[in-house]
Amino acid sequence: MRRILILAVLSSLYSYAGNMDGYMQKLYNAAKSSDSNFKGFSAKRGEKIFFSKHMGKRGKIISCASCHTDNIKNMGENIFTGKKIKPLSPKANAKRLTNVKNVKKWLRRNFKDVYKREGTPLEKGDVLTFIANQ
Ligand code: HEC
Repeated sequence: MRRILILAVLSSLYSYAGNMDGYMQKLYNAAKSSDSNFKGFSAKRGEKIFFSKHMGKRGKIISCASCHTDNIKNMGENIFTGKKIKPLSPKANAKRLTNVKNVKKWLRRNFKDVYKREGTPLEKGDVLTFIANQ
């Protein structure tokens, strides 16, 4: 019984990771189809996307780091609501980048907060690669 339980837990973990790989693959295919020279996502470009400042929500000049801080292994704070945000780095918070639904939902919202538009597949793939490597 215990062995079956352990197997069930393990396979659900794997399917989550598989899910995220599938999402990254979709972003990759979309980026490739809009630019045949695309060679793969870049943590370096992602870092720029994460730290560059823009006139965002409510006319405030912000970046992704405004809420997630300069070191994403640390706790963050939503600058609009004051609510604490757990570390964004998967190295500091094992739950990060495991649930595709969450990742999609927050990327959509957060790009709108900072860039006032949705991210392109290239931007999303780059910034996720940056986050995954931090
Ligand atoms: C106004 C504050 C704020 C800004 C600015 C912001 N975020 Fe977030 N972000 C949040 C909140 C709140 C959550 C959801 C709460 C949580 O997951 O702890 C979140 C969650 C996420 C997640 C989900 C991760 C996961 O696996 O659960 C990702 C990815 C993310 N943000 C990336 C970004 C990127 C990239 C930017 C810049 C384009 C950005 N955030 C800017 C507040 C912000």
